[in-house]
Amino acid sequence: MSRIFAAGDKTVLVDPRGRRYLITLKAGGEFHSHAGVLPHDDLIGQAEGVRGKATKGTIYVALRPTLIDFVLKMPRGAQVIYPKDLAPMLMLADIFPGARVLESGVGSGALSMTMLRAGAVITGYELRDDFANRAKANVAEFLGGAALERYRVELRDAYEGVDTPTEPYDRVVLDLPEPWRVVPLLGDVIAAGGVMVAYTPQITQAVQVRQALERGPWIDASTIEVLHRGWHIEGQSVRPDHRMVAHTGFLTSARSLGA
Ligand SMILES: C[S@@+](CC[C@H](N)C(=O)[O-])C[C@H]1O[C@@H](n2cnc3c(N)ncnc32)[C@H](O)[C@@H]1O
Repeated sequence: MSRIFAAGDKTVLVDPRGRRYLITLKAGGEFHSHAGVLPHDDLIGQAEGVRGKATKGTIYVALRPTLIDFVLKMPRGAQVIYPKDLAPMLMLADIFPGARVLESGVGSGALSMTMLRAGAVITGYELRDDFANRAKANVAEFLGGAALERYRVELRDAYEGVDTPTEPYDRVVLDLPEPWRVVPLLGDVIAAGGVMVAYTPQITQAVQVRQALERGPWIDASTIEVLHRGWHIEGQSVRPDHRMVAHTGFLTSARSLGA
């Protein structure tokens, strides 16, 4: 990847207070904010890390967006899974290059792009046409059009059945309201030894997933919650941040013993 910014590149502008703005560079384009105007031409042709001065004096540092930047700023249809859960989900689901993954629903594509970037080949089941299109557009925008060759989204209701693939899926990842209705459908859909992970905002949902797992050929069922607490570190003032995201969701995982 070139370190030099070109027109068409996604760029994140970071202001002195750490606030971040995601823009796409355009010849002759302008970034407008409370700090005035920053011409895109001041950044195009410059190396990553370049500082641009807006008309009222504020300095912005221009960087290429990380996956975290993009997930937090990208256009959304459905609510996304946040980075603090995306990272452990990659690990819990043990996503590897070439892993055949069934994902439902795909929502805005945050989880999809995280798994695609780790090399997964995804079949997505999504109820809503607008969300499926938003997810594919987000994936293409961040990972490039070639990633869509590993991302097939079918418009369908996962509760009504899951097709048995020619070769079973290695992994199944669920983020939809009633994942416990999908678990019993996975018998010959997921390979023996395959991993299932379900993200649920409510503990009552996680309990229902666990009950569905208990009724089937699953092992190693576990449910975790990830708490992420930032620290304020400035000179002698070193303490936990006053605020934290107290709750997002529960991650339930298990391994299949085969049909
Ligand atoms: C919270 S969103 C998923 C967000 C996604 N994980 C992300 O990180 O961007 C839940 C999605 O499940 C879809 N959905 C709900 N019920 C479904 C069903 N029965 N079959 C397939 N998709 C379903 C919704 O349309 C929605 O897009």
